[in-house]
Amino acid sequence: MAKDKVVLAYSGGLDTSMMVKWLQQEYDMDVITCNLNVGQDKETKGIEEKAWAMGAINHYSFDAREEFAMEYIFPAIKANALYMGTYPVSSSLSRPLISKKLVEVAEMEDAKAVAHGCTGKGNDQVRFDITIKALNPKLKVIAPVREWKFDRKAQIEWAKEHGVPIPVTAESPYSIDENLWGRSVEGGILEHPDVQVPKEVWDWTTPVELAPDEPTFIKIGFKEGVPVSLDNVEYKPHELIKKVRDISGVHGIGRIEHMEDRIVGLKTRETYEVPAAETIINAHTDLEKMVLTRHQKLLKMEMDIKWATAVYQGLWVDPYKEDLDVYINHTQKNVTGSVTMKLFKGQAKPVSRESPFSLYDYNLASFDINTHYDQGDALGFINLWGLPSVTAWNLKRKIADEGIKEMGKKVVPVPTGDS
Ligand code: ARG
Repeated sequence: MAKDKVVLAYSGGLDTSMMVKWLQQEYDMDVITCNLNVGQDKETKGIEEKAWAMGAINHYSFDAREEFAMEYIFPAIKANALYMGTYPVSSSLSRPLISKKLVEVAEMEDAKAVAHGCTGKGNDQVRFDITIKALNPKLKVIAPVREWKFDRKAQIEWAKEHGVPIPVTAESPYSIDENLWGRSVEGGILEHPDVQVPKEVWDWTTPVELAPDEPTFIKIGFKEGVPVSLDNVEYKPHELIKKVRDISGVHGIGRIEHMEDRIVGLKTRETYEVPAAETIINAHTDLEKMVLTRHQKLLKMEMDIKWATAVYQGLWVDPYKEDLDVYINHTQKNVTGSVTMKLFKGQAKPVSRESPFSLYDYNLASFDINTHYDQGDALGFINLWGLPSVTAWNLKRKIADEGIKEMGKKVVPVPTGDS
């Protein structure tokens, strides 16, 4: 009888290579491997060969860069997505896309299960499991690391015994996850938040001390909330993001390390390089400030926080997040125009902007001209706008003068019931 099949998210590294063997052995299943290019810099060549060598019965690789940029990064740009005000949810964004592909392959192959390499301590397991269960509840989700309980030494022993090649070069002590939108580094010495991040952790960004002494200016063109051009030249979404990533990285932009609250209740120290995200979100936010009304922008800032939190917390497929998308998309119809960014010594700052939908009116705002903005109107406006504050201070003063006891003596008429 043919064995049941499992589709494994495969990176070609030691852990997921072991998983091919482990799933064959522990679950007695045939393993189909699946790898996505979401713009990671890591070598993707040779992954397929490794999968065959481990005994996979089939392998799928997808170039998902365009889909990732358009369907996942673009919504994050529209939402200025920064979890805890800092992290542009780069790893969080790729998980629902990888999950979707795993489910598609599983359905094509009539597989009974899908498997991923996440540990039981992280956020990624939550994102994978929820998305997969939502898209196809019939599929079993297997996370070998949650089950196999190896420490590092036992794992290497097991790998050797089962013919899984151990990398010859000294293994990095870090867990690294990369895609077009960012690079995350965890583990090793980074688990000590009281110790500074060692130099070797950084890969996409120049240290500020060594960044060029001359700034670079780039003009980012937006159409309905998403970037479409650089210095007036149009690019495909993933190419544009890659270009901004590279040039921003040269100037040391997008190095982040902060304390983060994980979904599973842990506090961790997280380290990221997100040069494209920092430059593009700063530009996008600036353009929104020019084209949205005050009330729109203030509400949107709250919705943006909710969007980033939902996506971080694995709720990409939740209708709640879809509702937020509807709201956010609606705000973006006038977010068209361009922002010139100055990239210099670790910072990406807007320095000029223009839009056909600009709500800025020079004739109204300028100090230099006498226009139909009547400065006399300001007086009455301020009287009414400030009335609650002035009233509250009048009361404060009265209490201070008369004392709270006196206030309490006020006779309150007793209701007679015959009104
Ligand atoms: N803390 C980040 C997040 O939860 C990064 C996760 C990186 N994943 C990894 N397997 N190294 O989104």
